[in-house]
Amino acid sequence: MADIVFGVGCSHSPLLATESEQWNLRAADDAKNPAHWYKGEIHTYDELVKLREDEHIEAQITPEVMRKRHEDNQKHLDFLGQKIKDADLDVLVIFGDDQRENILTDNSPAFLIFNGAEVPFKQTSAARMANMSPGVAVANWARVPDEDMALIGSPELANHIIYNVVQNGFDVSVSDYIAERENAEDGIGHAFGFYYHRLLNDMRDTPDMATLPIYLNTFFAPNQPPLWRCLDFGKEVGRAIRNWDADIRVGIAASGGFSHFVIEEDVDQRLIKAITEHDEDTLRAEPECNLQSGTSEIKNWVAAMGALEGTGLEFQLLDYIPCYRSMAGTGNAMCFGLWN
Ligand SMILES: [Fe+2]
Repeated sequence: MADIVFGVGCSHSPLLATESEQWNLRAADDAKNPAHWYKGEIHTYDELVKLREDEHIEAQITPEVMRKRHEDNQKHLDFLGQKIKDADLDVLVIFGDDQRENILTDNSPAFLIFNGAEVPFKQTSAARMANMSPGVAVANWARVPDEDMALIGSPELANHIIYNVVQNGFDVSVSDYIAERENAEDGIGHAFGFYYHRLLNDMRDTPDMATLPIYLNTFFAPNQPPLWRCLDFGKEVGRAIRNWDADIRVGIAASGGFSHFVIEEDVDQRLIKAITEHDEDTLRAEPECNLQSGTSEIKNWVAAMGALEGTGLEFQLLDYIPCYRSMAGTGNAMCFGLWN
């Protein structure tokens, strides 16, 4: 039977791939954004600055603090990449989200399992780069390959998972290629690409490892699966993998999170603790209004947690680094963890 031997969770924010002296580029985007989720409600940037004035965020955004956080982030990324390589996996299953890269509004499923034999991993087109904000463009290198490539997919395992989850109540969508079309990425999106490039160096050290992307629509209303549903979905995926009659080593990965684009450390700490302690009641009780915008990517971690249940692997937090970038408390709280 297939064996789930390893799990990893890692943020994938553009800040991770941007020198701290340039984090202000993303802060400029924040100031233009009219709708920031914070404590379950939508606020303007200026409202946030006022709401959070007692927190003295100025101490969080000095050049020294941001530089130290950036350097710590890089150490953790290098460490996690090495851990994945050391796990000697046959397949890495990644739970990630899409932000209108591969999945556009014509058809936007809650859950999608990629069952192609090849995973297209390609550079971003010049046209898309030209439309990106400077703060995103400067970090794009971390989620695309040095040269266009086709990664090894895992169609047989994917089809086995798809069959099993559908039998057990999850009517997932399926895709076996990525169509090249206007306003979309030609290759797989950021949640997966960040793993492939920044953590795994375009698979140079793991040329035989296959990968299996699973998309959760964490971001876009109205069909975002709630947190409890992502947990249950992850469990079904994990059960299906463990039932597969093949002698292979499988790793599970969560991509993205924690809170952004407004950092809410209390939400993050509550959910990290719940993941660590297998506290499903707390996870299932978390209001969906606390899991909007980028913070929704925590659902990728909860799905991974579900897939890793029953394996005996325990979650270990490597580090949590709230990377503030503005007086409004915007930024991205980075999380790095392992199940081992
Ligand atoms: Fe993301």
